[in-house]
Amino acid sequence: MSNGTGQSGGAAAARLAADAEALAAAARAEIESAADLDALAKVRARYAGKNGALKELLKGLSGLPKEERPAAGAGVNRIAAAVQDALDARRTALEAAGADEPDDPSFDPTLPGAPLPRGSRHPVSIVLDEMRAIFVRMGFDEVTGPEVEDAWHNFDALNIPAGHPARERTDQFYVEGGRLLRSQTSTVQVRVMETRKPPLRVFAPGRVYRPETVDARHLYAFHQVEGLVIDEGISLADLKACIRTFAESMYGSGIATRFRPHNFPFTEVSAELDVSCPACGGTPTGRCATCGGEGWIELGGCGMVHPRVLSMCGIDPERWTGFAFGMGVERIAMRRWALEDIRALEENDVRFLSQFA
Ligand code: DAH
Repeated sequence: MSNGTGQSGGAAAARLAADAEALAAAARAEIESAADLDALAKVRARYAGKNGALKELLKGLSGLPKEERPAAGAGVNRIAAAVQDALDARRTALEAAGADEPDDPSFDPTLPGAPLPRGSRHPVSIVLDEMRAIFVRMGFDEVTGPEVEDAWHNFDALNIPAGHPARERTDQFYVEGGRLLRSQTSTVQVRVMETRKPPLRVFAPGRVYRPETVDARHLYAFHQVEGLVIDEGISLADLKACIRTFAESMYGSGIATRFRPHNFPFTEVSAELDVSCPACGGTPTGRCATCGGEGWIELGGCGMVHPRVLSMCGIDPERWTGFAFGMGVERIAMRRWALEDIRALEENDVRFLSQFA
């Protein structure tokens, strides 16, 4: 039969079919012998890729007479699909065999692994966790409050009225809306009294902020642990007993505590509290690195909750009394490890921190 181009269409179609079969056989052999996924990818590109042999074969269709093209095309497509299936099957088999693992003869799975560098607890976290454990043992609940506070919780409810020098713009980090970064964890006392009914026994660890000029003894952000106990008949004796129990748990039973009269707006009476130096036992010979030769180290402030604070927070001061305290965590850490510069606790120098591993 002639198609008018001088070419025998039947013969051309048969040749195309034979080429396709040969190609498929060659592809199958190469696919089976591909030893890993890389080799298989190359085979795939050569046969099934955009410029691969199967695409090349399809171009031969245009040389066939029109009426033979559909059947011949379907034949080539069938073969292309079979090659594709063989490629996929081989890939699955290679992946299952873990053939993508590099075959490295120097790899010895029996050798011990390279050691992973081990981190360490931050000294502030160490002290915080110790304080937390002691207060929990003494029956305190842990509570927290927001670091961005309103003036009511940071000042007014703590008996620090408008116009008080502590509220100066230069003494606080104010943000928009008259709010501020809390300058003391005493804010949490207020939040607890507003939301819970006495009796109360809570402690509140947290970060506080003050616009201090940073030097060896000051940071503009540091940690406090606040305590609050409210019940019927709570007296200064309970405060002293609580502080003594805490100090003995923290530093050992030989420790002495001392209250120095002080003034805080939210307590009446108020005191600063010291413990005898745990390093020199309170009898320094020369310059003790821990207490600086003073024999005492300061833990923080404390006092009996001011009756006005109780009533502002909705607690009847005729019925309930309470005490509160606030301790500086960085200062305790500094004394513990005789650190000379508080900035070491903020700089995250691993040479410093790794000593606490
Ligand atoms: N809030 C005080 C400060 O930051 C510390 C303090 C003193 C807390 C006496 C108290 C307290 O709860 O009763 O300096």
